[in-house]
Amino acid sequence: MASNSISSQELSSADTNDLPLLVAEDVIKIYKTGKIETQALRGVSFKVNLGEKLFLIGPSGSGKTTLVNIVAGMGKPTSGKVFWKDLSKDITRSSLEEIIRARRSFAGVIFQDSKLLQHLTVKENIELAGFYAKIPQGIVKQRSEFLLKFMDIWDKRNKKEDTLSGGEKKRAAIATTLITNPRILIGDEPTGDLDIVTAESILNLFDKISDELGIALCIVTHSQQVAARADRILEMREGIIIGQHGGRIHLRNLEESRLLEMDRQNRLAIPKTILKTLDNPKHFSISTEKRKIILEPIYDESLITQSKKDIITCMICGKMVQNTEKFCNHCGAAITKKREKK
Ligand SMILES: Nc1ncnc2c1ncn2[C@@H]1O[C@H](COP(=O)(O)OP(=O)(O)O)[C@@H](O)[C@H]1O
Ligand SMILES: [Mg+2]
Repeated sequence: MASNSISSQELSSADTNDLPLLVAEDVIKIYKTGKIETQALRGVSFKVNLGEKLFLIGPSGSGKTTLVNIVAGMGKPTSGKVFWKDLSKDITRSSLEEIIRARRSFAGVIFQDSKLLQHLTVKENIELAGFYAKIPQGIVKQRSEFLLKFMDIWDKRNKKEDTLSGGEKKRAAIATTLITNPRILIGDEPTGDLDIVTAESILNLFDKISDELGIALCIVTHSQQVAARADRILEMREGIIIGQHGGRIHLRNLEESRLLEMDRQNRLAIPKTILKTLDNPKHFSISTEKRKIILEPIYDESLITQSKKDIITCMICGKMVQNTEKFCNHCGAAITKKREKK
């Protein structure tokens, strides 16, 4: 399992090709609306490696949009750090001008509702994006020609947005983000508004962009189709990353492929589905056995307030009972004393 624990020191050391492209460290975001506070991100750390295809999944409200906005430099976290390989400082402490300048060559950003300028043709839209990024005109012409062909919209180059299909609009919008030749494409549900067949063709295109242009992907999706394409999938729930998956997963059966990910504060989130099968315990005893961590739910509230030396484990059923008991109150076996390890 790839570790997400990269220190800022590691990043600010000499720039080598081994360094990740993007690193988020302990990102917290609290939205304040009047007196109401929403903790959208509760300490998220992750990295995207060079050329990696990383996807973010999770239910609505789990913080995906907030997270991609922050790592794309389009929103500030309440605390935490974000590093881009090209900018040798924490972007959350950079000025807007610095971020905009660095983003031109670093990241292309694509949203579900990314739009073209209606009065311009596809080609003009792409070239305008190059002009804003201050790329020399000759290079813009050359690159926009390449992108129109690469994105399979060469025939549509002189059309305006209102005559394009959903998929063609999306291809054109992606092409405008690629004119600067970014190292990473960051997207928030870019195929969410498309039908399955069109979404599939756009996802194939993301594959092609990554494989042939070497551009990394960091994309939020709800699409099962994505699952087979990812190098890695991060699963978000209630403002944290609860687990990570390799490619080839089923979004309906994430339990099968989930690897729990310890965060930088050594926190592991136990999936709610597992807690539910155990009647939602709130407390656990922890021990290790043969290089395994054993968490044993404690249901008896009186055991929680007692010191560990007053509790023993029943040798028959393995449940915890008070030291003073002669028989296990779970399985009825006579208690033979094996003290809990401290
Ligand atoms: N601008 C905002 N103001 C207040 N709360 C917000 C704002 N944006 C998002 N939230 C809240 O933050 C949480 C995470 O939202 P979001 O990042 O949009 O999640 P997702 O993209 O996974 O659906 C939600 O509870 C949402 O209501
Ligand atoms: Mg969202």
